Amino acid sequence: MTDHTPRFDLAHWNAYNTVQGTRPVRALCQRVLALAGPGTRRIAVDLGAGAGIETAAMLTAGWRVTAIEPAADTALTAVPDSDRPALAHRPSFVQDALPLPHADLVHASYALPFVPVADFDRVWKAVREALLPGGYLAVTLFGPNDAWAQDPSIAPGRLTFHSRADVERLLDGLDVVDLDEKDREDRTTRGTKHWHVFEAIARRAK
Ligand SMILES: C[S@@+](CC[C@H](N)C(=O)[O-])C[C@H]1O[C@@H](n2cnc3c(N)ncnc32)[C@H](O)[C@@H]1O
Repeated sequence: MTDHTPRFDLAHWNAYNTVQGTRPVRALCQRVLALAGPGTRRIAVDLGAGAGIETAAMLTAGWRVTAIEPAADTALTAVPDSDRPALAHRPSFVQDALPLPHADLVHASYALPFVPVADFDRVWKAVREALLPGGYLAVTLFGPNDAWAQDPSIAPGRLTFHSRADVERLLDGLDVVDLDEKDREDRTTRGTKHWHVFEAIARRAK
């Protein structure tokens, strides 16, 4: 019998968040912050914000941030108290937190693949609707060659995977600034696995 032990439940994410403490801000976030310029109190949304390392970088850059992160026990610990007045935390799964606030930046780093297939289209529609004219989207998505797409211990439909053609369709109508693809073995927090990952930065027309 297939073992569908939940690997991506809140206990999993709380454990994940507690070991994020000192890593650098991810390149996707650094790049979109450089493209978008100073926040000047504009609104950003961080989906699946985790320990908040990228959220903290957005706050430092002058954005007001709504962070959606369901693992409430360990959420956003990287955000210093001095930056908290500009932070709103919704302790929910994104599919339970719709609609999203209108924003000049929507950032979703290693988060949307963990939205179940049954919810993904509704979530993506909300992401697109949240983007203000001129707004930036920075997103990680997983491809079909990822080891987790073929892992029998993960229930079918629990994670969402997209081919390159799917990703291009999701970004249709936006100005795609970067679309990077990784399809190889690489590190995880627990060893190595085959990663098939798309990282995209796209912009809504002004
Ligand atoms: C791999 S971590 C990524 C955290 C951080 N964004 C980063 O880049 O390191 C995934 C995060 O997404 C959260 N998450 C999982 N499913 C989610 C969902 N359906 N909606 C919103 N967040 C979710 C988890 O609690 C976890 O903090």
